[in-house]
Amino acid sequence: MTKPKVFITRRWPASVEEKLRQRYDVTLNETDRPLTADEFRAALQEYDAVCPTVCDSFPTEVLNVDNKRCKILANFGVGFNHIDIAAAKHHQLIVTNTPDVLTQSTADIAMTLLLMTARRGAEGDRLVRAKKWDGWCPTHMLSANVTGATLGLIGFGRIGQAMARKAHHGFDMKIIYFNPSAASEYVTQDLHATRCNSVEEVLQRADFVSLHCPAGEKTKHLINANTLALMKPSAHLINTARGDVVDSVALCEALKNKHIAGAGLDVYENEPDLYEGFLALDNVALLPHLGSATLETRTAMGEKVLANLAAYFAGNPLPDRVA
Ligand code: DGY
Repeated sequence: MTKPKVFITRRWPASVEEKLRQRYDVTLNETDRPLTADEFRAALQEYDAVCPTVCDSFPTEVLNVDNKRCKILANFGVGFNHIDIAAAKHHQLIVTNTPDVLTQSTADIAMTLLLMTARRGAEGDRLVRAKKWDGWCPTHMLSANVTGATLGLIGFGRIGQAMARKAHHGFDMKIIYFNPSAASEYVTQDLHATRCNSVEEVLQRADFVSLHCPAGEKTKHLINANTLALMKPSAHLINTARGDVVDSVALCEALKNKHIAGAGLDVYENEPDLYEGFLALDNVALLPHLGSATLETRTAMGEKVLANLAAYFAGNPLPDRVA
């Protein structure tokens, strides 16, 4: 029997690439370079399944290519804002993602950034490497306490709740959040979490604001000059969600003018380019979209894609269908 033809846009951990080779007539992107829109169009015409990842853009101009053979975009990643879902539906393309398995590692990175910005970790590292450290003194690089502070989460789904759990049980932080729906009774009690009435209320009350909402029209530049102005001057912003949620220019201004104390960013508008202004600032910790970047998590994400492909080719219900 001929094997289905599957196209993988970027390198995956070796163990999952091996399984792909065994199960499918697979084409891997051996050089791991980012592919072009024309290459994606060609893949849609040539393969039964295409497996993109969060940095591969599939807007309507790519999806409406003629003579498509592909019927499923099995995305490697939980976020799918890089795929035009309405256009995918219009072209009867199934889309799946990889939820759950990256929850803890992404929350770990959010907590890492919170600690880095609160305790000036990146700045201290740069100081030591530059051989500019003159030694301990009582007023050197004073920073903000994390333990006991108030963490405000915007978006309180899987990752937001995992972050809250680490912050509350590990650092005794008070948890407030805004989310369209309320958390379960169990989560609310376990975290002593308070649901705020609005994003604005979270921004006004929190010492640390961590973003965990999906990207989309409703959340584009949710954090902008007006909303940043609501935050305390001592507060810090953490973004491990999507770059588009934050207006980079406004955040840079707020950091430069000390309207807020600091920020920790893992995601950016127009990745991998980032707004140059951030590079000159000491009060922002910058990571290169590391949220899910552990070997275990990336392997588990690959396994999720494999499970979605297997279900699709067997004609079974798809575990993680989003369109
Ligand atoms: C995702 O899966 O959407 C993450 O951003 C990858 O780290």
